[in-house]
Amino acid sequence: MATCYRKIATLVSPTEAIGELTVITDAAMVVDDGQVTWLGKDSDAPSCETEVDLTGKTVIPGFVDSHSHLVFGGERSEEFASRMNGEKYQAGGIKSTVAATRNATADELRANTAGLVQELYASGITTFEIKSGYGLDTETEKLSLEIASEFTDEVTFLGAHVVPSGSDPDQYTDLVAGEMLTSIKAKWVDVFCDKGAFSVTQARKVLTAGIAAGLKPRMHANQLSNIGAIALAVELDCASVDHCTFLDDADIELLRNSNTVATLLPGAEFSTRSAYPQGGKLMNAGVAVAIATDCNPGSSFTTSMPFCISVAVRDMGFSVDQAIWAATKGGAMALRGSQGVLEVGVKADFVVLDAPNHIYLAYRPGVAIISQTFLQGRKVYERR
Ligand code: NIG
Ligand code: FE
Repeated sequence: MATCYRKIATLVSPTEAIGELTVITDAAMVVDDGQVTWLGKDSDAPSCETEVDLTGKTVIPGFVDSHSHLVFGGERSEEFASRMNGEKYQAGGIKSTVAATRNATADELRANTAGLVQELYASGITTFEIKSGYGLDTETEKLSLEIASEFTDEVTFLGAHVVPSGSDPDQYTDLVAGEMLTSIKAKWVDVFCDKGAFSVTQARKVLTAGIAAGLKPRMHANQLSNIGAIALAVELDCASVDHCTFLDDADIELLRNSNTVATLLPGAEFSTRSAYPQGGKLMNAGVAVAIATDCNPGSSFTTSMPFCISVAVRDMGFSVDQAIWAATKGGAMALRGSQGVLEVGVKADFVVLDAPNHIYLAYRPGVAIISQTFLQGRKVYERR
């Protein structure tokens, strides 16, 4: 049965051009059988059995969160507080979450993940990726991925998150690229290639073994330093290289000429009090950029895409349109998917904002303007 959403103040959808949106004011959109079947000016809308009046509201595509770590035990609020008191963020903090994750039961991990997924919907996210990476042994990595796959198809094996306490780095790399890879099921393989995590040589080993096992590569890199990981990401045709806090001009040139998306994670710089990478500069240079939450208990404990957009616009040189493009179409490209747009024929994954236009996503930081979230035409969240 077709439903027509009428009198939409502003309807936006990203275009193919990096950072550019199509904006229709006084719009309408028809959804039938979970798909968008018509959109345009309200004055031209066809008649439908069901009509929903969205006077004063904005409709955008559901956000695509291409980077999250939702399967974990425990929390690290004390570590956050000490950082805000001047302590530096270090990759080693991950190990305390590893201990808590190994100690948690499967049901506890599942319930924690389910709660965070509800938060994603409340933040307007309709497609999301989940990584493992807090198990760091075969059994817990396998379990983490099984739990992740109960919530999404975009499941990423991050056994190479850090080297667990007491392990030799090269032996652990061999374990990840060998026994772990053959025991787990995932769509993507990821590695944290940075100071305090894995070297470029170790990252190459894990990613090439993952590719040989039929997984698709992506990377965490250049968060804490620049050890030359971007060249590897581009060489291996990673769908995305994430963080990109420290890039030089040669890295930008490599990314511009590649199919690798640069995924920026505003919550991570915010919560680790780090310098912000300049996403607007990257997009203006022709790099496809995504914005993701990086939700995890250490470096970015947020599920709010509107928060990430606000920070991106305020501190990372994005225009509002660029930030929304990066959180929708950019995120989809980082997952090599086609979501993140509203066009005839796409799945009706969309969000209704309690706002007259999309600028409010950045203009009203911290205010809950996500009114409703729809997944294939079905309401999965409504603000009370
Ligand atoms: O993406 N960079 C590495 N991994 C996570 C941080 C994980 C943690 O601190 O627990 C990230 O920011
Ligand atoms: Fe991450």
